[in-house]
Amino acid sequence: MPDIEGTKDTHDYYPDIPQQVEPTKLKGCGSLGWGMVNRLNNIFRPETGRTVMLAVDHGYFMGPTSGLERIDVTIVPLLPFADTLMCTRGILRSLVPPTYTRGIVLRASGGPSILKELSNEEIAVDIEDAIRLNVSALAVQVFVGGEYETRSLHNMTRLVDLGNRYGIPVLGVTAVGRDMARDAKYMRLATRICAELGATYVKTYFVEEGFETVTAACPVPIVIAGGKKVSEREALTMAYNAIQQGACGVDMGRNIFQSEAPAAMIQAVSQVVHHDLKPQAAFDLYQTLQRQGG
Ligand code: R5P
Repeated sequence: MPDIEGTKDTHDYYPDIPQQVEPTKLKGCGSLGWGMVNRLNNIFRPETGRTVMLAVDHGYFMGPTSGLERIDVTIVPLLPFADTLMCTRGILRSLVPPTYTRGIVLRASGGPSILKELSNEEIAVDIEDAIRLNVSALAVQVFVGGEYETRSLHNMTRLVDLGNRYGIPVLGVTAVGRDMARDAKYMRLATRICAELGATYVKTYFVEEGFETVTAACPVPIVIAGGKKVSEREALTMAYNAIQQGACGVDMGRNIFQSEAPAAMIQAVSQVVHHDLKPQAAFDLYQTLQRQGG
C-alpha cells in the first residue's frame, strides 16, 4: 500500500482536452479487443502499420531445407532486423533465445510432408501451448481449391474461435496448389474466403497483374510470401510493387535466408517495406551492405 503521507490533491483534469486514444492503423482491425490489437502491434510496426516477417517454418513439411540446416547459425543473427519471426514451436523452444521480445507467429497447422498430399493438414498446436509460448499470432495453411479444402478451412475457423477466446490473432496462409493458376482471380477468392471466415490477417502471393484488386477486396491486412528464390533485385522489386499496391508487409523466407547476403537482404527489404525505398535504391543498399559483410 502506498504511503499516503504528503499526497498532493490533484486538480489536473484538463477538461479542455478531449480524451483521445489513437486507434489502430491496421485495416479492418478497429473492432478487435485490446489484447489482440496489442499482439498485432508486436507484428506490424505501429508507426508504419507494416511488417517484415522472417519466415523460417518451412521445416514443418520440408525438413532441413537449404539455408535452414542450422537455424542457430544462420537465422538467429538476422533476428535484430526482423519485425517478427514465423516458426514452429519446436524451433522456437530449441533454438530461439527467449531474450527475443518481438512478435512470434507460430505455425499452428501441419501433418503431411512433401512426400504426401499437402492439403491434408490438421491443427498442430494446442491453444494453451501457444499462450505458454507467448506468441503474437497463429498461422494456419488454407488450401482453397485443394483436395482437403474444407478441412483446412475448418482448421482455420477452429483456430479463429480459440484465438478470439484468448486474444490471439490468426494468420490465414493461402497455399496455391501446383496445378492452380497463380492469378489475381484466385488470390481474390482465397484471401477473401480467409477474411470472411475470420482470419485476422492473410498471407498470399504477389501477382504481377491486378494485385491491387486482391488487397482492395480483402477487408483485413495482407502480407505477401516471398516464394521461391529469385534474384535479390527481383525480390526487392516484388516487395516494392506489393507494398505500393496495398500489401501491409512481407512474410519472406527463401529470398532472405537463401540470399548470398541474408543480413544485407533483410535490411534492404525492411527499407522497402517501412520507408517505400524504390527497387534500384534498395538493390544498391543491398550491395553496399553485402560489401560491408552484411
Ligand atoms: C510455407 O509453407 C511457409 O509458410 C513459408 O513461411 C512461406 O511460404 C514464406 O516463405 P517463402 O518466402 O520462402 O515462400
